[in-house]
Amino acid sequence: MKRSAECGKLTKDDIEKEVSLMGWVHRRRDLGGLIFIDLRDRSGLVQLIFNPDQAAYALARELNREDVLFARGTVVARSSENINPKLPTGEIEVRVEELEILNHAQTPPFAIDLVNAAQEAQELVRLEYRYLDLRRPELQKNFALRHQLFLDIRNFLNERGFYEIETPMLTKSTPEGARDYLVPSRTFPGRFFALPQSPQLFKQLLMVAGFEKYFQIARCFRDEDLRADRQPEFTQLDLEMSFVFDERPVLELIEELVSYLFARHLSVRVACPFARLSYADALERYGSDKPDLRFGLEIVDLSQAVSEAEFRIFAEALRSGGAIKALRLPGGAKYSRSQLAELEKQAQALGAKGLLWLKLSENGPESPIAKFLTPELIADIQRASEAQKGDLILMIAGERKATNAVLGALRLELARREGLITNSWEFCWVLDFPLFQWDEQEQRLVSEHHPFTSPKSSDLELLAREPLKVRANAYDLVLNGVEVGGGSVRIHQMELQQKIFDLLGLSRAEAEAKFGFFLRALEYGAPPHGGIALGLDRLVMLMAGAESIRDVIAFPKTNTAYCPLTGAPVNVSARQLRDLGIELKVL
Ligand code: AMO
Repeated sequence: MKRSAECGKLTKDDIEKEVSLMGWVHRRRDLGGLIFIDLRDRSGLVQLIFNPDQAAYALARELNREDVLFARGTVVARSSENINPKLPTGEIEVRVEELEILNHAQTPPFAIDLVNAAQEAQELVRLEYRYLDLRRPELQKNFALRHQLFLDIRNFLNERGFYEIETPMLTKSTPEGARDYLVPSRTFPGRFFALPQSPQLFKQLLMVAGFEKYFQIARCFRDEDLRADRQPEFTQLDLEMSFVFDERPVLELIEELVSYLFARHLSVRVACPFARLSYADALERYGSDKPDLRFGLEIVDLSQAVSEAEFRIFAEALRSGGAIKALRLPGGAKYSRSQLAELEKQAQALGAKGLLWLKLSENGPESPIAKFLTPELIADIQRASEAQKGDLILMIAGERKATNAVLGALRLELARREGLITNSWEFCWVLDFPLFQWDEQEQRLVSEHHPFTSPKSSDLELLAREPLKVRANAYDLVLNGVEVGGGSVRIHQMELQQKIFDLLGLSRAEAEAKFGFFLRALEYGAPPHGGIALGLDRLVMLMAGAESIRDVIAFPKTNTAYCPLTGAPVNVSARQLRDLGIELKVL
């Protein structure tokens, strides 16, 4: 029994050929004495036809969905009224002469042939029977793309002199801002390995080791809150290059790689170089450090324009060092009061005290705060926001950072509602991140990226005096509002690394205990180096047009980091715990 063809690849050119096929019963129909089976394999579907004179007919009557078949027969043309233009093999069918059932299937818990099976079946059930879910053609396509992309990435980097080198999974904590997944040691009872949040320290050690150009398609583990674009284990394209002094070589390499992948797999020409935006600008204009540039709707600053206004809310915001920021929605004057009240509720849920609006209606300006808005003030607001008749201006007064964030979220919401999101690929680099953030809870500085990121040399003198003003040699890659990558030029000198640890409030003893091995390596001729990691699941998700990274990860977990297929995490036996020297007390 040998397969001679793939279902989805048969065409008119195969008419009259004898073919042997193997695959699954996708659908069965009994019509006027004839039986039709859609046979599915990895390549697609083809219609099998059985008529009552054939020996195979009796067996075909017994077939159930998802039974596994061998079928030998002849490719024939469909009659013109039976041509299915939606199916690539819709012009032909296979008249079956020999049929064998290779294995029976239980009735699946959800229908694989429904295009929108995603909505039809509960996600938990789909994940429990993931091997069935994965049979869906849409998912099969995603994994074909994922495979091709990974192959092309490897070849691309190989051609440019990169070595693929694996780094340990059982290791010591590599901080990337999430909790670690821990693995107890049997040989050292009471001690734990951490699964890597990224290969960060090891890739830097590989630079010290003289490999110069490294990459890895690396699995990373982070115990953090999950959502559509976050999984507890995910895959990065991690890379690092030596003798890199600024961001340029890394950005250029990634622009070249990404545009190569887009041209090859989506026939899309991506404009290079990508747009570049400073972190400060991204927050001020888009209210996010991962701005979606597929539409305008930029946030404007009205602080100057309304600085003289005798309106308490504006005056108070400005007096306390805040700002008055706004979104102008072209044609938004059509929004009703109740729609605006709903938007205000959303803004409040996001943390704003309120949302002020001004409609530039045909019959003149309208606003709940009209009595505070003199014609001059309205003219100033209109000028500052470049608003026209028919537009809506949404304003928030308050602390600058929080105000930007709320308007950033409303910007996305309005774009969605108004259908402003174009079908395009908008890449941008976000640059000049701050090196540190202030952690209110812990009352100390924390790294914006990770503690191995170098400060800009022009900002070095600010390190001791005003550390929050120090900018980093760091960059994030954003595609259509999704952060698909991040990296930096690293610190390669031990003294500077030590100083950063000091500023982060890490005592010398703590730094030695956590990173002693790494600090030592920096003292043995570490070259200047820099790199980046791309979130490959996110990149594949976007390129596949998928809604969630779960659709491009074969066996993903739920939002509670649970695997419905295996039931992991699970309890372990008393014996296993004893071997590990662990006694359980669940708090
Ligand atoms: P960073 O933490 O920014 O950088 O991660 C790089 C990219 O990985 C993706 N990513 C994730 N994808 C899915 N699920 C997650 N939980 C998840 N977390 C991150 C994002 C992100 O941009 N060591 C540094 C890189 C470097 O400095 O070279 C790092 O890991 O797309």
